[in-house]
Amino acid sequence: EKGGYDYFMLKEIVEQPRAIADTLLGRLSVGGELTLDEMRLSAQDLRSVEKIVIIACGTSYHAGLIAKYAIEHWCRIPCEVEVASEFRYRDPILDRQTLVIAISQSGESMDTLMAVRYAREQRAKVLAICNVNGSTIPRESDGVLYTHAGPEVGVAATKTFLTQLAACYLIGLYLAQVRGLKFGDEIDAVIAQLATMPEHVEKVLDTVGPVRELARSLSDADTVLFLGRHVGYPVAMEGALKLKELAYMHAEAFAAGELKHGPIALIEEGLPVVVVVPSPQGRSVLHDKIVSNIQEVRARGARTIVIAEEGDESVRPYSDVLIEIPAVPTLLQPIVATVPMQVFACELALAKGNDVDQPRNLAKSVTVE
Ligand code: F6R
Repeated sequence: EKGGYDYFMLKEIVEQPRAIADTLLGRLSVGGELTLDEMRLSAQDLRSVEKIVIIACGTSYHAGLIAKYAIEHWCRIPCEVEVASEFRYRDPILDRQTLVIAISQSGESMDTLMAVRYAREQRAKVLAICNVNGSTIPRESDGVLYTHAGPEVGVAATKTFLTQLAACYLIGLYLAQVRGLKFGDEIDAVIAQLATMPEHVEKVLDTVGPVRELARSLSDADTVLFLGRHVGYPVAMEGALKLKELAYMHAEAFAAGELKHGPIALIEEGLPVVVVVPSPQGRSVLHDKIVSNIQEVRARGARTIVIAEEGDESVRPYSDVLIEIPAVPTLLQPIVATVPMQVFACELALAKGNDVDQPRNLAKSVTVE
């Protein structure tokens, strides 16, 4: 059942292109309108939305953070993201014009469920993104968009995360369409690019070999830092979470611009720092700023592991290890940039002799608050 792999996690990482393709299937029509008909929310409901609040936990929360960038950019609707366990305790401002998006792989996380119930009591509309058909959160929500990742057995979320991203992009693009906000060309171009993501992920999987060696060489490190900006920041957070869960190592992510406000004091000789570099084509200002950050940490002795777009030669001189990912639009980059992080954490954990399917102290779905 592990399909020839020693662990479900390894199999699930490899299944990602298919999982994304299945999640997009029948929903994405290049050059046309998206079809999200099982969503149970009418175009009219979606046109009246004035604010979006995304609630989720753990890896699903990271998907939400990425969704915020896409939704605000494409739809111009203000969007907040909050960890579900904090949500209802701060008296959040919700009303009928608020769309709450609850992201939960299992559909059973108690923290997320409680936040959903609270949001509905406050008359907000709730849309769930979920991977398990008929689970509690979609049943208690006004609408649902299922991810079609198939069952995920490994405790650490991998393929479900990438399919959550695909679902978030679909919702963002759909909202832009029903609200008539086609800055036409960009939306159409992104839809076309989204359709090609399974191939891009396939390509990343074919080229991550060096990540395995790298991971094995770092199994004695005490700490690994992760840096990113824009959508690369939540990707860095996800990379750090995977390393904590699987390799039981201290790992922390920073928005690269925050480095100078404190965390740079942590940099010392030999400290591994993983950096997600934005595309030089997309937001080139951010690209150049992060290249300076790489130089800064390296000048202080860090060992730099750089994830950058293929052909981005500007980072090569400052990279101890350079991991190339395909060129895709900035907002979609998390789909390809996450994959080397998953492989890195998984291999590092295996090098330490850990069980990557059943990490200590963790459960696949957390049904207590
Ligand atoms: C991380 C992980 C957890 C879950 C979190 C939310 O690899 O698996 O952080 O993402 O417990 O679970 P769901 O999405 O089922 O609500």
